[in-house]
Amino acid sequence: MKTMTSTAMDEAASGASGSPCHGLAEPEILFGSSRAMQRVREKLDLLSSTPIPVLITGESGTGKELVARLLHRQATVPGPFVKLNCPAIPGSLLESELFGFEKGAFTGAHLCKPGRIEQAEGGTLFLDEIGELELSLQGKLLQLLQDGHFMRLGGRTELRASTRMLFATNRDLDAEVAAGRLRSDLYYRINVVGIALPPLRHRREDIPRLARHFIDVYSRHFERKVPSLAPELVSLLQRYRWPGNVRELENMMKRYVVLGSAMELLPPLADCTASETDLGDNVSLKALTRRATRELERNIILQALAAHHWHRKRTAAALQISYRALLYKLKENGLHVDSGPVPIPSPEEDV
Ligand SMILES: Nc1ncnc2c1ncn2[C@@H]1O[C@H](COP(=O)(O)OP(=O)(O)OP(=O)(O)O)[C@@H](O)[C@H]1O
Ligand SMILES: [Mg+2]
Repeated sequence: MKTMTSTAMDEAASGASGSPCHGLAEPEILFGSSRAMQRVREKLDLLSSTPIPVLITGESGTGKELVARLLHRQATVPGPFVKLNCPAIPGSLLESELFGFEKGAFTGAHLCKPGRIEQAEGGTLFLDEIGELELSLQGKLLQLLQDGHFMRLGGRTELRASTRMLFATNRDLDAEVAAGRLRSDLYYRINVVGIALPPLRHRREDIPRLARHFIDVYSRHFERKVPSLAPELVSLLQRYRWPGNVRELENMMKRYVVLGSAMELLPPLADCTASETDLGDNVSLKALTRRATRELERNIILQALAAHHWHRKRTAAALQISYRALLYKLKENGLHVDSGPVPIPSPEEDV
């Protein structure tokens, strides 16, 4: 019988089938066993049963939309999940898109049209990139949050909204308020409770599990052979800075599956070498040369490893060094099998 780790069970509990934000017919699961992600999951469980607004924050690609969708799924409300990406629609159109309009409200309004608030009736309205909402619309949204009422454009009757509101942003909203771009009264209304998603570089222990997940998903999706996740590759993945967070990892693993070779992944990953450490002012030419040589050697080893599908004995033979010497160099470069802080999860841990 397959045994599930507690993390796997938590992950399964947070998942639900439906149309995920990555657009694949895969269940939405929030992976991550780091303390930070456990806290996110706990909050998600607490908040999904309440109708209060939630502000989801985090850098781009950290999983804000995924969390919004899971909040909606776990709430098991009858209505739909409706998303509106605020900066994607110009200001004047955004207003009619959000609040809807009556026939004749403006030139070309031949019919009345309910807005996203009405479409999300009994469900969830997710306002993405709320930090970019124009000031002119902020007052109207505030009114909606204050008394739950709104009017369609050109309308005379007040309508009552019964939708749960979720917001997301990758901006620092305190700074937006300080800069006068966000009304403070609106900020207090949307920031009742928050879920802050940590950047991937602050939870490196989650990387192996996520990488394996995306490899499995895209191997199934593209009907490709599942490429190996060698310890040296995992070690590189855990050292990289991931400016694009989980989305960048997902895209990289997609490339890996499609191309079937780790060679393409190496340029960005190999960048995270010792050169990230600050040189300071008084560094000798000798020290710089030694480091440059080492980086060059490291990149050559990485390329050889990738070219030989991470087979260490074949790589050593190709580089014309002994197997022992290769192991030593891997260790020296922080790429040794035993050097990774986290073991790669076994297939049994898959949800
Ligand atoms: N913890 C996670 N477990 C599994 N998949 C994740 C996780 N976090 C993010 N993803 C996946 O990464 C991709 C990016 O996530 P998402 O779109 O939710 O990020 P975002 O924070 O909304 O990004 P942006 O700010 O750029 O809109 C999605 O395909 C999502 O399913
Ligand atoms: Mg998003």
